Amino acid sequence: MISQKNGLFNLSTINTTYLFQARLNEQLEHLYYGSFLDEKSINPSLLTTKYKQEAGTSTLYEENSKLNLGLMKQEISTVGKGDYREPFMRVSYNGGMQTLDFVFESYEIYNGKTFSESPLPQAYGDERECDTLKITLREKELKIKLVLTYGVFTFCDVITRKVELFNNAKKNITIESINSLQLDIDECNFEMITFDGAWARERHVNRRDLKPGIVVNDSKCGTSSAYHNPLIYVCEKNCQELRGKCYATNLLYSGNHKEIVEVTNYNQTRILTGINEASFKWLLRPNESFETPEAILSYSDKGFSTVSRNFHYFANNNIVKGFWKNKDRPILVNSWEAFYFDFDDSNLISLAKKAKEIGAELFVLDDGWFGARNDDTSSLGDWVVNTKKLKEGLGKLSNKIHKMNMLFGIWVEPEMISRNSNLFEKHPSWAIMIPGRRPSVGRNQFILDMSRDEVILYLEDVLSKIFELGEVDYVKWDFNRVFSDLYSINKEMSNMGEFLHRYYLGLYKLLNRLTTKFPKILFESCAAGGNRYDLGMLSFMPQNWTSDCTDVYERIFIQEGTSFGYPLSAMTNHVSAAPNHQTLRNSDIESRFNVAAIGNLGYEINLNTATSHEIDQIKEQINFYKRYRHTLQFGTLARIQTMSEGNKRAVWAVMNRDKSEIIVLDFRERTIPNPPLERLYVPIVDNDSYYELFNRPQKFDLSVFGDLINHFLPSKLLKGKAADELAKILHLNIEITHHRVYGELISKAGIILNQEFGGTGFENEVTRVLGDYGSRLYVLKKLEV
Ligand code: GLA
Repeated sequence: MISQKNGLFNLSTINTTYLFQARLNEQLEHLYYGSFLDEKSINPSLLTTKYKQEAGTSTLYEENSKLNLGLMKQEISTVGKGDYREPFMRVSYNGGMQTLDFVFESYEIYNGKTFSESPLPQAYGDERECDTLKITLREKELKIKLVLTYGVFTFCDVITRKVELFNNAKKNITIESINSLQLDIDECNFEMITFDGAWARERHVNRRDLKPGIVVNDSKCGTSSAYHNPLIYVCEKNCQELRGKCYATNLLYSGNHKEIVEVTNYNQTRILTGINEASFKWLLRPNESFETPEAILSYSDKGFSTVSRNFHYFANNNIVKGFWKNKDRPILVNSWEAFYFDFDDSNLISLAKKAKEIGAELFVLDDGWFGARNDDTSSLGDWVVNTKKLKEGLGKLSNKIHKMNMLFGIWVEPEMISRNSNLFEKHPSWAIMIPGRRPSVGRNQFILDMSRDEVILYLEDVLSKIFELGEVDYVKWDFNRVFSDLYSINKEMSNMGEFLHRYYLGLYKLLNRLTTKFPKILFESCAAGGNRYDLGMLSFMPQNWTSDCTDVYERIFIQEGTSFGYPLSAMTNHVSAAPNHQTLRNSDIESRFNVAAIGNLGYEINLNTATSHEIDQIKEQINFYKRYRHTLQFGTLARIQTMSEGNKRAVWAVMNRDKSEIIVLDFRERTIPNPPLERLYVPIVDNDSYYELFNRPQKFDLSVFGDLINHFLPSKLLKGKAADELAKILHLNIEITHHRVYGELISKAGIILNQEFGGTGFENEVTRVLGDYGSRLYVLKKLEV
């Protein structure tokens, strides 16, 4: 809901209110963003900045004025008029002048969300879901205008914002930096959370204290990056998962970004997010305009899990679009860790048969099917089938998979080119490198210049042919290196500072065309795992490969961090081999499944060499997953206990809308001797409901007992080798948990779980044997009373 009264703009959602004041020919004054305020209690004169005395060195806006922009909370801040905090934007004109002064001119309110012509990703929503506010500001002396666009998404407590700068003057201006969103807060006792990492350990949660000064979270490698995701949280010091005040922002953009949190010596905090100016400079000629990416903002006084729930709802309903929106996603088997580059039609088909047998619904042919690609040194750009490996061609393979009644998916890395490829021979200038300089390289490959139309056209054509030939249902769109040697011969560009942004405009243009042309293809974004995990890519591709690391323990940290900003439906998780290929860690396949099940499930494991017991376990896992799939993919996640905060146990609960179905993951870091009793405490269930509570039946190998086996077996006759052999084929059921309980008990008191194995005895189906990195899935199903 958006209202305006005497220049007071009220942007309210179900649980939040955002207020600012706009008077003709004055700067916009931000008044409040926080918990919902009823109209009747809003009194702007009690929220406005009240500095009447000028302090020693302060700069007043103009002679005979008391206005100190340096202390006022603003919607956009500029340079040169007394605000010495980090500015919202910097432009230069007339030989390097930077002073700007934007004042309010007019506004428009629309029901629903408005769109611009730009290829940039844009959130959407209908009249029931959201409203749009456009505020036009004019620069006092120059003929330039700024339009701020706010989208107010009522049900998920999310506000979007972007700006457009119009040059109506007769001279060029240069945009040195421009953000999308600014939030000034009158408090400073905050902490900040960022989501950082690197390849195979993306989006780990990092929490730090904020002191006066500036903290920057950014990416300069050309993608939104695994180094620092554009998502940030700013929260009060004692904020936790289920209580406390927190603000969070994110950006619908896949390139370089920068988030600044500045705490001033006047106990204020400024948050800015937008394109990183590090490799950015944009010339705006007369009659041209520049549009920033859209940023999003959310707030809750009920802790992190509520804000992340807002973001999940928003991403599922207002970012992801098309055929797969809110549609159950297929369980896949992917060929990569099963075969890497070493496959042919026959082992692919046998893997596909196994995939069918376990109950998978989508078979994905990963890297290595095209050109002369037998390792990562060649062929990117040559999107033609390698008939040495796929003797019958792609169409035939796809046909066979479809005949097995599975979907067929394929891996591509379209934005890349190998030096060793036909495409490079033909179009060396399409690769991003600087003439006369030896280029830097990543994974033996170079990036194509996506800012050029001829490159986009080539890719559109060649990919369309492959998608049609293979009757492709799913595409894994990879991007395995980051940028270096920025250079382009694109004639539209006035300087190299425009290149990266134009690259992304080109990429988004291509994605727009392909997703329109192939509306039913399920696209999954990937960038060496999660190196481009952002809302920009999610606007075109409903899923994102979370990380190349599938180690069960590492995944807890990666999925925990990712879930702060991105929905479970987007988070793809694969059960892979043990020892794990990234860490060499061993873990139980049941626990690997339990963690992978919290989101979008796949298997990336050589099923051809799996034991019949493992195949049986996987079948059971998939049966279970199918039963609760919709909740596991589209439910709301509450992180009840997190390992990111230093706990040795993670407890995550995923619930459907009316809390009639809740699945709880209980994961344990390491077993300790003589363990205390443990409680399962789920404070988000519906207190008045009566639930059936049970654990997913799992099996475990008798061999976990080693030579203790002789003490547990009914017959003491089997010793030594015979006992070892028996242990391999005998598998036990885990303990049984099955109760009928009122929500209130489990939410307020918690229930005591079965006693854990502590070195002194074992009772079948009663003693909990978890082991290191062990876990359980509990289901709560609402019963009619
Ligand atoms: C990247 C992806 C992997 C796999 C390989 C193939 O690393 O993240 O999942 O597709 O590329 O080369």
